Amino acid sequence: MGSFKWGILGPGSIARTFATGLQAVPGAEIFAVGSRSEERAESFADEFSAAKSYGSYEELASDSELDAVYVATPHSHHAEHSIMCMEKGRAVLCEKPLAVNARQVERMIACARENGVFLMEAMWTRFLPVMERVREWLAEGAIGEVQMLQADFGFRGELDPGHRLFNPELAGGALLDVGVYTLALSYMVFGEDPAEVKSMAHVGETGVDEQSVVLMGYAGGRMALLSCAVRTNIPHNARIIGTKGSIFIPDFWHATTATLVSGRGEEEIHLPFAENGYEYEAREVMDCVGADRQESAVMPLRESLRIARTMDALREQWDLRYPCD
Ligand SMILES: NC(=O)c1ccc[n+]([C@@H]2O[C@H](COP(=O)([O-])OP(=O)(O)OC[C@H]3O[C@@H](n4cnc5c(N)ncnc54)[C@H](OP(=O)(O)O)[C@@H]3O)[C@@H](O)[C@H]2O)c1
Repeated sequence: MGSFKWGILGPGSIARTFATGLQAVPGAEIFAVGSRSEERAESFADEFSAAKSYGSYEELASDSELDAVYVATPHSHHAEHSIMCMEKGRAVLCEKPLAVNARQVERMIACARENGVFLMEAMWTRFLPVMERVREWLAEGAIGEVQMLQADFGFRGELDPGHRLFNPELAGGALLDVGVYTLALSYMVFGEDPAEVKSMAHVGETGVDEQSVVLMGYAGGRMALLSCAVRTNIPHNARIIGTKGSIFIPDFWHATTATLVSGRGEEEIHLPFAENGYEYEAREVMDCVGADRQESAVMPLRESLRIARTMDALREQWDLRYPCD
């Protein structure tokens, strides 16, 4: 069997990290890179020994030798770039959030279905070995019935109005950048939409949400308490509390350890990455595409859509709209 040929669209910071992870995946080949600049494409291709480099995304998307394209552009462009690739028959792994709003996500899903191609949001955290174990603990009822989730993810970024994190034109802000991880964790834990969503956000001088707290209520009185920020260092921890115990996941968005406290006592697991953690989502894409599946059962498209709808509802509460909405 030949190698699985990856194309990289938008060779920025996370593309470099993803490509580093790919190098540890047996059978994966960083085959081509597409940038708005020929020079940047060439330099990335040299760094990762890619066979081809293109000075436009269109040329990359048109390369029929590719097995999948990884879209790593700013949030504002996820839908446009993914759709361009899918219309040309390419499978797509698109960075989080899958798109800026639910309407865009719906268009992306429709495009994947029409063209019969694979699409997945790059929610890499969900594929980490620690998260697999957490799902096993939950499924076997190790902590009883889940009652509450607490998850926080914030960091203090330098306030730069042009940077994608703070620029409304690029759909910046804490919710879409890091809050999406806390929401994705809620969906993983509760497996359903919240019945009620309450929140408070601070929208800063550049017009994006710099920090927020979100309280989600689920049927039966279960709750999630989430926070996120791009101007405040908040610990990146998650705690899932059940009727018979709890699970603590330090640094949950790139977790290598977790602690289960249950009737069996305390169990701490350590599951280090094979490379940098991005190899697991890449393997999922390769397995799905290899098996002719058009979406992942671990990060299904309906869940990306539900997450997008919840983010829409939150931004509605904050009266926060992007030019690309
Ligand atoms: N999974 C994770 O852990 C993780 C971590 C960080 C970021 N991300 C996600 O990855 C995506 C990219 O983030 P990043 O930090 O890698 O950003 P970045 O360093 O700014 O890279 C984005 C790349 O997109 C291309 N691009 C296309 N249109 C652009 C525009 N109008 N403005 C700026 N760049 C544009 C640029 O490449 P060319 O101009 O060369 O084509 C740029 O290098 C975001 O969706 C972000 O949420 C994920």
